[in-house]
Amino acid sequence: MTPDPAAPAESARLSAEQVTLGYGDTVVSRDLDFAVADREVTAIIGPNGCGKSTLLRALGRLLRPGAGRIMLDGHPIRSVPPREVARTVAVLPQSPQAPPGLAVADLVARGRHPHQSWYRQWSSADRAAVSHALRLTGMLDCADRTLEQLSGGQRQRAWISMALAQETDLLLLDEPTTFLDLAHQIEVLDLVRELNERHGRTVVMVLHDLNLAARYAHRLVAMCEGKVRATGAAEEVLTPGLLNEVFGLRCAVIPDPVSGTPLVVPVGAHDTAPDAAAAAPGVPRSSAE
Ligand SMILES: Nc1ncnc2c1ncn2[C@@H]1O[C@H](COP(=O)(O)OP(=O)(O)O)[C@@H](O)[C@H]1O
Ligand SMILES: [Mg+2]
Repeated sequence: MTPDPAAPAESARLSAEQVTLGYGDTVVSRDLDFAVADREVTAIIGPNGCGKSTLLRALGRLLRPGAGRIMLDGHPIRSVPPREVARTVAVLPQSPQAPPGLAVADLVARGRHPHQSWYRQWSSADRAAVSHALRLTGMLDCADRTLEQLSGGQRQRAWISMALAQETDLLLLDEPTTFLDLAHQIEVLDLVRELNERHGRTVVMVLHDLNLAARYAHRLVAMCEGKVRATGAAEEVLTPGLLNEVFGLRCAVIPDPVSGTPLVVPVGAHDTAPDAAAAAPGVPRSSAE
């Protein structure tokens, strides 16, 4: 069944309740509510600096809210042991850092830490999970290379492999397609879809490409200045009016000829036609206003 983006997410496994988020004295978001829709792919969109990564960090327990709380499976996430959180939620940060000289296989193996303990060290299950993750991302052949020896796209896929090796139900991916060429962007997003559809993973990802967000997410969340401005299906969120409000940009929105989902066509300062947006086929004149 197609998930209903308008349905209330009361049963969400992961949510933010009235959280205030920021750094030191700087508040990024105040009284923010956010529920991750179970078994869906959610894309967070919004301009640079609006608080997308900050929210994702808080949801992944990497940033402590100044007020309010993050709930995981009915418990405040702060009360859940970190290892258990890491077995449930994997976070791919926007700019992940690794020590120099680290091999891809060793990076991905780090995803297995939450599954290990002093009495259960490296096991065949860990080995299988690492190989499986590397296979899913097409990185098996690069397993012995160091991160420095990879292209930007390969490096990104190595980090995604680490998150996958964690084998969590929930995946929080901050700009997972950054540095990737279009073919690899599609490959990663196809993988996200497969993880969701075939393996029941819940995914929240920050994406800048609105058209790919429309194609690959069940639900879009548009953020602006630390607030959630709109949530819903792509057709509800990607409207010229909302895009203008959130990004300060005039756009035409036409049906994507491949997927039928909204395709956002920006209007630049040099598009000097009286109403350049309306020149797009099938777009009513008012759609870019
Ligand atoms: N570690 C940090 N210390 C101080 N300020 C930060 C830090 N990270 C982000 N910020 C600020 O918080 C705001 C939101 O940032 P961020 O969540 O990274 O935005 P986005 O991911 O939407 O681009 C920005 O103004 C940014 O400069
Ligand atoms: Mg960010």
